[in-house]
Amino acid sequence: MDRLSRQRIADYYDGHIQRGYVRGKLASDPVYAAAAEAIDGTDLPLLDIGCGIGLLGLYLHTRGALPRYVGLDHDERKIADGQTAVRRAGLEHVMDLRTADASSLPDMHGHVALLDMLHYLPLEAQTALLEAAVGRLGPGGTLVIRSVLRDDSWRFQATRVEEVWLRVSGRIRGGAQHYPSEAELRAPLEAAGLAVTVGPLFGRTPFNSYLLVARRRS
Ligand SMILES: C[S@@+](CC[C@H](N)C(=O)[O-])C[C@H]1O[C@@H](n2cnc3c(N)ncnc32)[C@H](O)[C@@H]1O
Repeated sequence: MDRLSRQRIADYYDGHIQRGYVRGKLASDPVYAAAAEAIDGTDLPLLDIGCGIGLLGLYLHTRGALPRYVGLDHDERKIADGQTAVRRAGLEHVMDLRTADASSLPDMHGHVALLDMLHYLPLEAQTALLEAAVGRLGPGGTLVIRSVLRDDSWRFQATRVEEVWLRVSGRIRGGAQHYPSEAELRAPLEAAGLAVTVGPLFGRTPFNSYLLVARRRS
């Protein structure tokens, strides 16, 4: 995405700090491009669980690849900021941002995104959410997850340090609860009959972030 497009998206948000965050995030983090690629080729609706300020939806729209988008997040401040941006972008007819907990998903079927949010749930809630997310996949739907993975790398230790800061600064309520291992994420998805690919998606960060893409076996 070019600089102008990043600037246009940032301008939909309020305040210098948030605009700077949006510009920097879009410039440095490959997660939105990776998600776009994973769901490319179908115009199924997208459920974005733990959507934050709704950046994935605005990114997809700018790429001309936004199907109907429902984003939910339990942080009402982020949802309010996202709703303001959606209104300014004139996208209310395709983007629906809702304050809701990941434990109660809307009844819709299509693609599902879980980007950088699973580790904020305890293990049992992660397992339940993965099961519920698989249940929201439509025919041809893709489940795209980015998650920090628990392993013995220095990146994992760097991620833990950053997560302490995120919790203490109040940016993420409650903070990290359980860092999943690759096996913990793979097992319920493969048991549900999905084919799973996993690869590193660090971007320009020191963090231990991996992309998992899961689809029904054909
Ligand atoms: C690191 S942010 C990622 C935001 C977004 N997915 C992105 O990549 O731009 C994690 C988000 O998950 C949300 N979250 C954490 N636990 C949640 C829960 N139980 N239900 C809904 N949202 C949750 C947080 O409020 C936060 O906005």
